[in-house]
Amino acid sequence: MATARAPEREPQGALEKLVSLAKRRGFFFQSSEIYGGIQGIWDFGPLGVALRNNLKRAWWRSMVELRDDVVGLDAGIIMNPQTWVASGHVANFTDPLVECKKCHQRFRADQVAGSRHEDDGGEFTEARQFNLMFKTFVGPVESSSAQVYLRPETAQGIFVNFANVINSTRMRPPFGIAQVGKAFRNEITPGNSIFRLREFEMMELEYFVPPADELKWLEYWKEQRMEWHRGLGIRPDKLRFRQHGPKELAHYARGAFDIEYEFPFGWSELEGIAARGNYDLTEHQRVSGKDLSYFDDLKRERYIPHVVEPSVGVDRSMLTVLLDAYNEEEVRGEQRTVLRLHHAIAPIQVAILPLSRKEPLLSLATRVEHDLRPFFRTEYDDTQSIGKRYRRQDEIGTPFAVTIDFETEKDQAATIRSRDEMTQVRVPLAELSDALRERLG
Ligand code: GAP
Repeated sequence: MATARAPEREPQGALEKLVSLAKRRGFFFQSSEIYGGIQGIWDFGPLGVALRNNLKRAWWRSMVELRDDVVGLDAGIIMNPQTWVASGHVANFTDPLVECKKCHQRFRADQVAGSRHEDDGGEFTEARQFNLMFKTFVGPVESSSAQVYLRPETAQGIFVNFANVINSTRMRPPFGIAQVGKAFRNEITPGNSIFRLREFEMMELEYFVPPADELKWLEYWKEQRMEWHRGLGIRPDKLRFRQHGPKELAHYARGAFDIEYEFPFGWSELEGIAARGNYDLTEHQRVSGKDLSYFDDLKRERYIPHVVEPSVGVDRSMLTVLLDAYNEEEVRGEQRTVLRLHHAIAPIQVAILPLSRKEPLLSLATRVEHDLRPFFRTEYDDTQSIGKRYRRQDEIGTPFAVTIDFETEKDQAATIRSRDEMTQVRVPLAELSDALRERLG
């Protein structure tokens, strides 16, 4: 789906091509496809899970491990339902739903205006507010007192653990708690492949600061997060900030920005960065009756920290890096599709390809792969012609291939082929690992 601001448009060629590559090569598939699928839910294949793990690892490394002011957390997906009363989700996490009186299809009221369906759809029902949280039950009795929700964001797991983290660590504001995990939203109109999902994964940081410093930290995190996306190789001219207007801003928020990417269906939110005031901790303190304030020893003052929150979807980040990396080009009269994925996130970094399955090439190539495996994400492939294997590695974004040929045994050297330049250099086997490390950083 498009964003709340733009009506839905037809899927564009670029997205369709990527979805087809994703299926053909094993990045993502429609969930439970053999049963006709289920809307808004996708399954991730061998390359998809590798890419997601690399994205999550890159995020965790930059947000937690390389800093001394952020710690991690992994809270439950199902929480005490009071959490969602306090956070405001039970009352307000809703979208306006309308139904076409003719075909009974349901739409988000803010997305139907101006869309094609409105032109030939006839009349719509009055909008009613539809809560996006999935409900289920804990225990054997399906009564309203046993009703719980699947979390629609990971953030609340952080807020309810604020005191636990303060009491069990040496963290003091300004400091952050980071979390990566699944979230669920019963979106009325999921779509645009993995852009808007009903089950998705989030990478969220809640950064707790003294009240007076909130806007300074908002500025800081805006820049940090933009840098992170650029560091994954996303073209800078395809990224921009969009500031939320006063109407869009939650009543408690001090300011909010989206990092937008120019998707084939238009500029849309990739990540949200919000200054949330002290709304969440204050509400949890009020509803739980537990003290969630912080006492600053140095200044001798007690306050409820304010929060700056950068929040990004793993799936949306994955879609962005894939779309941005996708290229079709003609090289020396040959057509190729290439994913120019940054080597830090490429599912496979080095493919080891023997020119033939015959000995001694097979043993040599197997040995080379075993030697390189501890240092790089490798794949051994001896099927099909070498041309087809290069094309496959280009399509899945492998930055380098090592080709073992008929000379290798004699000269104890192999060829490194680069995905981007399509150059080939001969390197002694003993120096392969260093040569690749130099190229892969
Ligand atoms: N705690 C803040 C929060 O939940 P949000 O803007 O609703 O904010 C943050 O979500 C990010 O999560 C979005 O920028 C997007 O990357 C991702 N996201 C949100 N809803 C999504 C959905 N239905 N499918 C895929 N990703 C989604």
